Amino acid sequence: MWKPPERIKYQTAVAQWPTAQEAAQSHLYSPLRAPNLCLQQRTWVPAMVPWRASDNGDVSQEVIDWYKRFAQGRPGAIVVEATGIRDIPSGPLLRISDDRYVAGLRRLTDAVREASGGQTRLLIQLIDFLTIRRRPHPEVFFQRFLEVTETHRQRLGMQHDDEQAVRQRFLSLSDAELESVLSTRELESLRQGYREHVTDTHLPDVAALPETLPTLFANAAARARTAGFDGIELHYAHAYTMASFLSATNTRNDGYGGCREQRVRLPLEVYQAVRASVGDDYAVGCRFLTDEIIASGSNLDEACFFAKEFAGAGMDFLSLSRGGKFDDAKQPKIGAAAYPYTGQSGYECMPAYLSDQQGPWGRNAEPVGLLRQAVRDAGFTTPVVSTGGIHSFDQAECLLNDGKADVVGLARQALADPDWFEKVRLGRGEEVLLCRYSNYCEGLDQKHKQVTCELWDRTALDAPDAVLASDGKRRLTAPKWLP
Ligand SMILES: Cc1cc2nc3c(=O)[nH]c(=O)nc-3n(C[C@H](O)[C@H](O)[C@H](O)COP(=O)(O)O)c2cc1C
Ligand code: SF4
Repeated sequence: MWKPPERIKYQTAVAQWPTAQEAAQSHLYSPLRAPNLCLQQRTWVPAMVPWRASDNGDVSQEVIDWYKRFAQGRPGAIVVEATGIRDIPSGPLLRISDDRYVAGLRRLTDAVREASGGQTRLLIQLIDFLTIRRRPHPEVFFQRFLEVTETHRQRLGMQHDDEQAVRQRFLSLSDAELESVLSTRELESLRQGYREHVTDTHLPDVAALPETLPTLFANAAARARTAGFDGIELHYAHAYTMASFLSATNTRNDGYGGCREQRVRLPLEVYQAVRASVGDDYAVGCRFLTDEIIASGSNLDEACFFAKEFAGAGMDFLSLSRGGKFDDAKQPKIGAAAYPYTGQSGYECMPAYLSDQQGPWGRNAEPVGLLRQAVRDAGFTTPVVSTGGIHSFDQAECLLNDGKADVVGLARQALADPDWFEKVRLGRGEEVLLCRYSNYCEGLDQKHKQVTCELWDRTALDAPDAVLASDGKRRLTAPKWLP
């Protein structure tokens, strides 16, 4: 992952934790009572893909154990990982793309309800993503994938040569020469691997996204409700289809790109289709970005506009992340796919302990606070969830007291210690395992390996409850904590 050049080393520490009485009187442990979204406390475990689903996207016992473990900490809400809405093979990514997935998802919602004693609301994040391929070997790219065009021939001065000779010539060109012959997209396919963009309207499936996506999301949402989830989070963040529609880089000219009013159109139409399918009495919100952190990307000003549009349309919550784009992703190795959390935008999404003057904690807090204010100024009371580097009670409590958030998300901190919420509530904060922001977990995610935390995955491997990862070296869930 990209790191800030300053490379200042930070160590997570918490000077003081609240007593049980202070926690009981806090804003953080007070309930949220919003239309369709009532939480026992204002804490939230944001979506995190743990790569535990079966190869055809079904809920496995490991998926159930993973969420049960979070539920034992009894946070206000857990959002189940990004879950695919298309019925296409997607490896061990959880899916909700057909009714056959409902029974497994029902087992998951039952397990979480039981493990949290009914205290935790369970939502599911619905994702759509476009095709992405691995970075090819240059020989394979030039021999098989590249479509040789008249422009190539002209630029190479090979108008009359046969195609094979043109392909051979490409292989002998330097990087600089390739840059003068290939188009930007061809260079991207060679260097990063082929990837569809929402602007590829010459592809019929991409052109038809405004017609196909509302139904795909709506059907998935209806299944989620049938399976017993308490709500839906539409994934409009990071590197995926819906975020790409919102992005300032979306130049579609079919009424779904260009100015921000048109870029927000499909996200609103998807929401309306979802709302129509689940009804008015069900939590539907979305996750999107305060800032894309890429050249020519959307910034906070646009995010505030989107937030007001979503609130005005009737969304029940707005959850904010930042960055996490393909646009600035590191070049993958040959044979590997680009990963959207490797560039500067990836760093802003999951900041690590090597940082700049600002440090890795709460980098999204101010932007989310400004966005929330814009929503309030527009007259909406929609709850806003703020996430990013939050690990201490004081951080969370300040965000709430200062009006910068209504709910506080802890992703990696909850992975490091799923009992954070109970430990702090009981005045036993000293027992919290503090996240180091090492991004060991994110490294596993990048390789699509079962995600674990380095703070506990080698602990008590021979305990009777320890189920090991497929490498046989790591336990899959945090050891039990008995209050
Ligand atoms: C292993 C891992 C998987 C993640 N998967 C998702 C995901 O499925 N959907 C999503 O919106 N964010 C995902 N994220 C981002 C987190 O939800 C969160 O925004 C990010 O880690 C920053 O919050 P934190 O500093 O509290 O960890 C993931 C993060 C990690 C570490
Ligand atoms: S591996 Fe554990 S300590 Fe490191 S960032 Fe992930 S959750 Fe935090």
